[in-house]
Amino acid sequence: MDINIRRATEADASLVAATGLTVWIDTYARDAVTRDMAGHVLAEFTEPRIRRHIAAPFTTIWIAETAGGVIGFADVTLPAATPSLPDAAQAEITRIYVLERFTRQGVGSRLLRHATARAFADGATVVWLSAWAGNQRAIDFYKKHNWLHVGKTSFMLGADAHPNHIFAIRKS
Ligand SMILES: CC(C)(COP(=O)(O)OP(=O)(O)OC[C@H]1O[C@@H](n2cnc3c(N)ncnc32)[C@H](O)[C@@H]1OP(=O)(O)O)[C@@H](O)C(=O)NCCC(=O)NCCS
Repeated sequence: MDINIRRATEADASLVAATGLTVWIDTYARDAVTRDMAGHVLAEFTEPRIRRHIAAPFTTIWIAETAGGVIGFADVTLPAATPSLPDAAQAEITRIYVLERFTRQGVGSRLLRHATARAFADGATVVWLSAWAGNQRAIDFYKKHNWLHVGKTSFMLGADAHPNHIFAIRKS
């Protein structure tokens, strides 16, 4: 499969929003879509919100695309600190999403390597991310790429706290 990775522009906001909503529901709505989930994705993955996010100075979205369109993206914030790490220059991959039918073909690995290398080139000494404790596939994926478990946090959805693990990789 011929895949290109490029920086998203504001014109890509609707593509990122639709891809993000689809992958989020596929990944986290394991049993059913709850009201909290629906409220979260419809607030989070809107064209105006993603457009503002792309335009913001500290964020970069890397898009993976085929000739047909978007199949995944990685969303990076620099700087973005977690108390689990001592470094002054930290970058966070806030999302790395590949459409389900394009997983296990190396797209996520390419996005992860690209986003990390660019964050290091832009001055980060460490890149971190958080993964839901129930997302074993993602946890295995980061371990396979030699990311280290450095701490824990939680993600609030409505009134419920969901345990997350923090993984990081340091510039060599
Ligand atoms: C986690 C995620 C980003 C990984 O992306 P991906 O594109 O599937 O990742 P890759 O294909 O690069 O690697 C994943 C697996 O596919 C395998 N793989 C890679 N290329 C392959 C190929 N050509 N044929 C078969 N398998 C392949 C890798 O070896 C790896 O396998 P393993 O870990 O089971 O040993 C993706 O599953 C995803 O978007 N999930 C939903 C959203 C999500 O959970 N995001 C992370 C939130 S923390």
